[in-house]
Parts: sequence; structure tokens; C-alpha cells
Amino acid sequence: MSERYRKSEQLLERALRTIPLGSQTFSKSRTQYPHGVSPFFLARGEGSRVWDVDGNEYIDFVNSLAAVTLGYNDPDVNAAVAAQLRDGVILSLPHPLEVEVAEQIVAMVPCAEMVRFGKNGSDATSGAIRVARAYTGRDRVAVCGYHGWQDWFIGTTARNLGVPAAVRDLSHPFTYNDAQSLRALLERHPGEFAAVILEPMNIVPPAPGFLETVQALAREHGAVLVFDETITGFRFANGGAQERFGVTPDLATFGKGLANGYPVSAVAGRADIMKLMEEVFFSFTFGGEMLSLAASLATLRKLTREPVIETLRRRGQRILDGVGELIARHRVGDIAEICGDPVWTFLKIKPATPYSDWELKTLVLQEVFARGILMIGTHNLSYAHSDADIDRLLAVYDEVFPLLRRAVDRRELPALLRCAPLEPLFKVR
Ligand SMILES: Cc1ncc(COP(=O)(O)O)c(C=O)c1O
Repeated sequence: MSERYRKSEQLLERALRTIPLGSQTFSKSRTQYPHGVSPFFLARGEGSRVWDVDGNEYIDFVNSLAAVTLGYNDPDVNAAVAAQLRDGVILSLPHPLEVEVAEQIVAMVPCAEMVRFGKNGSDATSGAIRVARAYTGRDRVAVCGYHGWQDWFIGTTARNLGVPAAVRDLSHPFTYNDAQSLRALLERHPGEFAAVILEPMNIVPPAPGFLETVQALAREHGAVLVFDETITGFRFANGGAQERFGVTPDLATFGKGLANGYPVSAVAGRADIMKLMEEVFFSFTFGGEMLSLAASLATLRKLTREPVIETLRRRGQRILDGVGELIARHRVGDIAEICGDPVWTFLKIKPATPYSDWELKTLVLQEVFARGILMIGTHNLSYAHSDADIDRLLAVYDEVFPLLRRAVDRRELPALLRCAPLEPLFKVR
């Protein structure tokens, strides 16, 4: 048992007796955190910081998997939730907040004419797919990116255990920035695609004309175009990636950025399609839960009132530039790469002979966690990150990149690692 993470490790051992995987979320589970050099449980968060159960403090660049956009314990969101709590969490009929948040989303998001709420991003993406199927009377869907845990999407990945073959057969992945891969699918099954769903951007920016071509192909083939803005929504711009890139889909789905960590998601889009939600069954006991809707209204209002996105963008650009410079200075370009949009950057670790990317990534995680940075591959910024937080991140990489170089050049990875490397596993992206 490690000294620094003793309580985390004890709690994990205990958790595994009653909780399969020891976590409710794959990306928060021990599959992502090497045992012996990682925290497994956090006790609290404040601003850009979190504290693990052993009392170690971190600047958090995971930020609840990008669900927290303003920062932990945001005073405006807290005040809205506290005020709402006095009136109740859920009631027996809808609360006016549902209308207010729907109107706010319609005001902010280009494609949004009508809105329905869910809880997780998967509720929203699955609702969008069902309504697209109802609207077109077709079954097939083209997917690109990560869209959640439901059968219609996860069946297309390596983690498809338990998904019926009949469902898997209806979902077809296509390749980002390769419009030809989508065209080929649509032409192989003419008149059979209900929807084309994609993350408008994740690791790399859209090539010039890519999103426009996807839109034109969807139209030409009569499929509903859905942007999965679970991450990009309320992060890439106040109106999401669709505003940022100037391409308006038929439907869009939102989740993580909607309420600074409170559980609410949304499907939004063209009224003629969304109207079908009256017939399509999309219904949740907690769909109109009011604390999350109050949090959402406070979050969205803050986005329109304060320079949240500009600030994320400015700080993120410092990460892109600063990490790029460190990669060059320490000559680790063959092992590490920084990419993505400033508001959501990726530190990609590449295989470098004789080591795999997973083995090298394990070293990075071990070293950044030890230095008080929580980061598992992306920098998910919140408004609470300060310039000093970015300075610290860069200072940590300045120390860690030479270790990567040494590990590869001198074949010293086994000597540098204080744990077993992460297992090669399903990657969501
Ligand atoms: C782009 C995208 N779509 C959908 C989802 C699924 O959201 P949830 O895990 O809230 O169901 C995620 C979650 O990571 C996501 O990043």
C-alpha cells in the first residue's frame, strides 16, 4: 500500500466488494488510474482545486470529465440551488424553471427551437436518435465520436458486451474529417439512414468544409443531422460548436456544460422534428428536477453575463502554446503531442520503442499526480482556473517531459515506474 494514497487504496478495496468497477463512471474508475501512484476517491472541490481522501490537493484539469465549466462550488450556482431547495427538488407537475431554461437555450443555441431535458448525455443522444428514427421512418444511424452508454452507440465499440447483434447492425461508424467515409455508408444503404450524429469536434479541428459537407450529405440522403455537443456545448462558444463553426445541425444534444456539474442534459433543435417528442416516448421521473434546472439557469446566465468562454479560450491557448514549446524544448515530439481546441486540449502520449503509449502514459500520470495535478489526458478548463494554475501545469510538464525522454532513450521506464502500467483498454476517443 502506498503512503500518499493509502486511504484511497483502502477505500477502493472496500468499494470493489460492493460496487463493480468501484466507480459509477468508466473514466473515473481504476481502469484509468494506475494503482499505487493514483488517488481513487476525492473528498471535495473548490474553484479549480480538489482534495483526495488522503488530503492531497490537486489543480483539477479533469473537472468532472468536463462537466464543471465555472468551477467547483461556484457562488452563483450555489445561491440559485440553495434558493430552489426551499421550494423543493421535484414536484407533482412541471415547474416554471423548465420553461425558463428551455427559453434560455433557445436564445443561446442556433439550432434550438424546442428543447427537452434528460439527466445524462446518453439520455439526450438516445432521445435524438429515437426522434430522428421516428421522423424519418428509418432505422440506421451513422456515428462519429463518443455518444454514451446506450446500445445503439456502444454497440459500435469494443465495449459492446451485452448489446444485441440486431442493434449493432443498425449503427455504422464513420471517420472524422473523412466525408468520403460517410458518403460511402449513405450510398451503401440508400434511403435507410435516420440520422448522422457526430461530435462536431474532439481532438482535431474540422478540416475546411468538413462539417458543411456532412450537413449536405445528410440533407441529400434525407437523414437528420445531430451534433453531439455534450462536451462542446456551452464550452466552445455560448451557442456551442455550431455557433463556433457556423454550421447549424437539425438537432443538438447537451449535457456536461449545462449546469456546472448538476445532472441535466438536453435535446434541442428544429421545431418540426422536436414536436414529434410528443409521440416519441422520452420521459423521466427526474426529467424536470429543479435543483439542476436552477443550476442550469444560473450557469447559462453567467455565461451570457461574464467573459467565461473568452477566459477559457485565453487560458487554453496558453496551454497549447506552452506545452507545445515544452515538447519542442525537451525534444519529446515523438512521445507527446498537444492538440485540440483551447477550451478542451489533449495531451496525447504516443508509443515510442520499446514502450507502448499506455506504459508511457502511466509514467506521466504517476508524475503529474505526485506533483498535485489531476490530469488523465485532457485539460478540461473551468472559469475558476487562474493563470497561476496554468503556470503550475506548465512547470510540472517541464519536470515530467525530461523523465519521458530518459525513460525511452535509456530504456529506464521499468525503473522509473512505481506501479504496474495501465492495461491497454477501450478508449472513448
Ligand atoms: C460527446 C459525448 N456524448 C455523450 C456522452 C455521454 O454522456 P453521459 O456520460 O452523461 O451519459 C459523453 C460523455 O462523456 C460525451 O463526451
